[in-house]
Amino acid sequence: MEGRGRAIVLIGFMGSGKSSAGRILERKTGWKRFDTDEMITARFGRPIPEIFAEFGEDKFRDAESDAVKQLAAAAPAVIVTGGGIVLRASNVELLRRLGRLVHLEADEETLFRRVSRRTTRPLLQTENPRATLAELLRIRLPLYRKAADVQVDTSRMTHEEVAEVILEKMEGH
Ligand code: S3P
Repeated sequence: MEGRGRAIVLIGFMGSGKSSAGRILERKTGWKRFDTDEMITARFGRPIPEIFAEFGEDKFRDAESDAVKQLAAAAPAVIVTGGGIVLRASNVELLRRLGRLVHLEADEETLFRRVSRRTTRPLLQTENPRATLAELLRIRLPLYRKAADVQVDTSRMTHEEVAEVILEKMEGH
């Protein structure tokens, strides 16, 4: 625990269930919840697809890194991150100071089914979203796994079960 806060930091691919588990963990722990996507949309005053369309992915990534820097280690918290947070090692380093990194995973089929319900993910608005997802996953999976303290496979779990398992796993950490 030396030098690390008590936050539960959720990382993982789009559709892995971070936002839903984060809300349940907020209720169960009574801790504050921070969500980097929400912080960015509040700052720009517009939804993520518009931020990508008007300012580009790089500006979004800069805003994402700024959001991580704003998270202070003072109090325990539940921190929900966007799927691309691990693309910058500096983000991971700061998050690791705040607490434990929990990687929510799911099989490719499940992720695709979940993300297909919405059109709010600009990175997947391609001609072949399934192939794009597979390619992004191939690049990112090693990054999530390397950054994480613990992994939880959410493929066959309810959001409530995911939150329970996370809390159980946190006891040993
Ligand atoms: C992104 C994931 C999204 C959001 C943005 C980019 C990514 O968050 O930050 O669309 O690069 O994987 P979710 O993981 O909550 O979908």
